[in-house]
Amino acid sequence: MASDGTKTTEGAIGGRLGEALSERVRVAMLDAFAQGAAPEVEAAVHAANAGGQLIKPTSDARFGDYQVNAILPLAKLLKGNPRALAQRFVEVFDSRGMCLAPEIAGPGFVNLRLDPSWLAAELGRAATDARLGVAPVAQPQRVIVDFSSPNVAKRMHVGHLRSTVIGDALVRTLKFLGHAVVGDNHIGDWGTQFGILLWAWKRGHDEAALNADPIGELERLYKEGTAAMKADVEIANACRAELAKLQAGDAENKALWERFVAVSRAEAERVYARLEVTFDSWHGESFYNDRLPGLVEELRAKGVATESEGAICIFLDEPGLPTTPFIIRKSDGAFLYATTDLATVEYRRETLHAERLVYVVDVRQSDHFRQLFATCKKIGWDADFVHVGFGMMLGADGRPFKTRDGGVVRLDQLLDEAEERILPVVREKWPEATEAAQRLIASKVGAGAVKYADLAQNLATDYKFDWDKLLAADGNTGPYLQYALVRCLSIFREAENRLGLVFAPDGTALLLGTDEEKALALELARFGDTLDRMGAQLLPHILCEYLFALARLFSAFYAKCPILASNIDAATRHSRLTLTHLVWRTLETGLSCLNIPRVTRM
Ligand code: ARG
Repeated sequence: MASDGTKTTEGAIGGRLGEALSERVRVAMLDAFAQGAAPEVEAAVHAANAGGQLIKPTSDARFGDYQVNAILPLAKLLKGNPRALAQRFVEVFDSRGMCLAPEIAGPGFVNLRLDPSWLAAELGRAATDARLGVAPVAQPQRVIVDFSSPNVAKRMHVGHLRSTVIGDALVRTLKFLGHAVVGDNHIGDWGTQFGILLWAWKRGHDEAALNADPIGELERLYKEGTAAMKADVEIANACRAELAKLQAGDAENKALWERFVAVSRAEAERVYARLEVTFDSWHGESFYNDRLPGLVEELRAKGVATESEGAICIFLDEPGLPTTPFIIRKSDGAFLYATTDLATVEYRRETLHAERLVYVVDVRQSDHFRQLFATCKKIGWDADFVHVGFGMMLGADGRPFKTRDGGVVRLDQLLDEAEERILPVVREKWPEATEAAQRLIASKVGAGAVKYADLAQNLATDYKFDWDKLLAADGNTGPYLQYALVRCLSIFREAENRLGLVFAPDGTALLLGTDEEKALALELARFGDTLDRMGAQLLPHILCEYLFALARLFSAFYAKCPILASNIDAATRHSRLTLTHLVWRTLETGLSCLNIPRVTRM
């Protein structure tokens, strides 16, 4: 028990090495520096801890495994000599079990080195655990992830890829961490496009074409309607009138609308199936329609919304927000995107009891979400709101990603192309397989490559879609990671075929004799912290980078440390197979969080 009453972690760390170490550092800092000192010190330690700044993994193993950098800034507050303070810290730091004696370095850094026998035992145990030793979070949250959310009546195109793939990875990772997550496809199924479609449909549609290629016919009608509407205000008014009729509950329009939505949904489901993406709910905009009038009245009654030039508006004067008000009802009585989003928040908070609301939507909608979140705050709907904004997908030439003739790239065609490009490689590597088996692998590797390329980017920036880069067998790509996984499996196959050895980890401690084994072990032990970081920051590239680093360390280990060779003693072989097993399962778990398909052959 430390002096502030917190318990230091001794045995179980729940798969969070960094967190456990950080906690020991926090306790030691308070012990060493906060006794009778100003509350600023305590506050500074607390802030550094909350920001994950108490320890940092070192980039060079010569300086230990983690470094404590937080003493230098504290020395300023305490007006003390940093090295002397570091000395005080080292004296009270509890290294028992986990670390070797800490070392002071430079002007007042402290280097922490894990006790190799602790690490070896910890990983030995993790190898037999179904969750690789990574316990679910202590405080699970109810989270809604609003993702994909295309405007329907149109085909899915590349513009829908990012939200779909990123949102899906966030949902799966948060679920793995133990949160109660609802992945919701908030489809745009109530907007102006239906007025246009209804008008164009009534003017003339082709029933045979609709049966043969439903979404194609809808797209044709939509294009025609849009062109006609742009050319003629009378037609634009007629389209609006159709929409108003639909929204007022007109039976004919409602029946057509249902048909349009069903067609679009069936089409979208086909693309989602190829991406292996699923949702927990499909509450589109129409789902909230009945709530809109009441909500607007409620907000007026509360004094949050006011009338201005006939429209109902919410004025927000917070720095950084657009100066235009958040409009929730137009002067003609129509409700807007904003109104639906407010009704959605109300439903998610009140009915689903959401504590964290995540929106995976293009950065171009940042202003909308800023205003939405500020409005919720003003109403008093508190929750943890996050807009996960992402940049655009560009072609290899840095221009918006288009087909050769300048059209939008359809998602199904993009996936077809990925498969076609990877197929010759699969045929060459696995010639004895049937055509169907080769195609199945190619579809998984192709889709995996496209998805991974999207996830591995820093979200907020635009990214260049480059076939050669994303399909490369080397580098931070989907195929590289899938291949690393296949290689682990082939080692077990070989162990069985050559040595008759059916391997299963048994919980015994590892033997970490070489630098490669140590480095690999340390990286494996960082999996839980990595998942936590991704869950907190909602950035999939954090996990991608980790898996890539792990696969590279595995490759270095594999090159240097023979596993099945006859001169390897049984204990070493067992330890190396355990390491391989851990790598395999960490890749398997990590890729399943990102929802990159796993393959057993390649
Ligand atoms: N359907 C919208 C669009 O395509 C995205 C919806 C995002 N989610 C939301 N709750 N606003 O732009």
